[in-house]
Amino acid sequence: ISADQINAAGHLMIGGCDAVDLAAQYGTPLVVYDVSQIRQQIRAFQRVFAKNQVDYTVSYASKAFAAVAMYQVVNQEGAHIDVVSGGEMYTALKAGFPLAHASFHGNNKSYDELVMAVKNHIGVVVVDNFHEIDLLNRVLEELDANVQVMLRITPGISAHTNKYIQTGQVDSKFGFDLESGQADQALEKVQASPRMTMIGLHAHIGSQIFEVAGFEGVANKLVAVADHWQKQFGYRARVINVGGGFGIRYVKDDQPLRPEEFVDAIIKAIKKAVAGTNLGQPAIWIEPGRSIAGPAGYNLYTVGSRKDLPGLKSYVTVDGGMGDNIRPALYQAQYETVLASDPQAPLKEHVRLAGKYCESGDILSQDQALPATKPGDILATLDTGAYGYAMASNYNRNPRPAVVFAENGHSQVVIKRESYDDLVHLDRPYEGK
Ligand code: LLP
Repeated sequence: ISADQINAAGHLMIGGCDAVDLAAQYGTPLVVYDVSQIRQQIRAFQRVFAKNQVDYTVSYASKAFAAVAMYQVVNQEGAHIDVVSGGEMYTALKAGFPLAHASFHGNNKSYDELVMAVKNHIGVVVVDNFHEIDLLNRVLEELDANVQVMLRITPGISAHTNKYIQTGQVDSKFGFDLESGQADQALEKVQASPRMTMIGLHAHIGSQIFEVAGFEGVANKLVAVADHWQKQFGYRARVINVGGGFGIRYVKDDQPLRPEEFVDAIIKAIKKAVAGTNLGQPAIWIEPGRSIAGPAGYNLYTVGSRKDLPGLKSYVTVDGGMGDNIRPALYQAQYETVLASDPQAPLKEHVRLAGKYCESGDILSQDQALPATKPGDILATLDTGAYGYAMASNYNRNPRPAVVFAENGHSQVVIKRESYDDLVHLDRPYEGK
């Protein structure tokens, strides 16, 4: 929390709005995005490419947080998106997002999803496997359509990150394997299809990566494959897509590079690698999700019950938990949480910050330093914008929180809080005998 995020009352400000007021106005648990921070992150990535005069696309990985309002903001900033489901595509369409600026990912895209993508003029289908090549060919025949494709390669690089979110290692469910020749076969199949235009290669090595080494590795690998394809098959790749995964700072010990440092290193690595080939300078595409949505998001909670144990850490419980942020329970992810009414108050104790869900693992933080708190106080967990609301659930039949966008002192609900009626909306009484 920087000094300019604290107002005259000493309260935390989000997008120019007082966080304590937001909690009072919209209720808690509440997810709030500082919209200007989303814009700044997108621009930070774009700026480096522009400065280096390379053809580029910054594609927001919308799985990090997908909502009509989010797609609108991303579109306003001139960024593209990647989508991984019919639901994300549908939401983007509802937002008026041009699907020509979307890449469609996934290791098991359905027939219906491919039809939806092709009918809505998807920009690129990132083809993941042989089954998909056949399915997509069938869809294109039936719709008498054409589509641009990229091939997703498994680069054989494992980034140093939590094992549940690394994707680039050889033993992975995503993409075509290189060593066994599958990627070459995939290229031949796609080239043989008159309805697919192959524009380049894609790989994604994982998420929450702090260093450039993995990205340099994947850049080199993709250029090497492109070079091999040009020599062997006479195919010249126009696009090198190195995926996403740029890490963000959740807690003090996290020391990720800045967007510009990641992008700089990727550009340099690709320029250097293509220098020894006849590929020319390909366009460079990246797919940041977490680094665009994460730092902009805040989860606001109200403090409720407390349990003190002799000789052990106390439990301080809030009105949300694993239903609105499952990352601590799922990945042992760490966050910083502050008292919204006084983010810089002297810290008094280390507690376990617990959620309200009926599960012992529903602990938002095992070791949270806090000032003295009392029931009714508002806590703000920082940097929750990526894979927070996006992975929210109705566990215990708790309604999912509202999402508010705040910018320049204005705030507005962009996803309504679920009501109890919403929770039973799809339920039907059993009429069996
Ligand atoms: N591109 C592809 C093909 C991906 O699979 C992903 C993330 C991204 C881009 C964006 O990665 P990012 O820049 O957000 O790191 N639920 C996990 C993260 C899963 C990431 C899945 N793929 C978490 O909460 O940490």
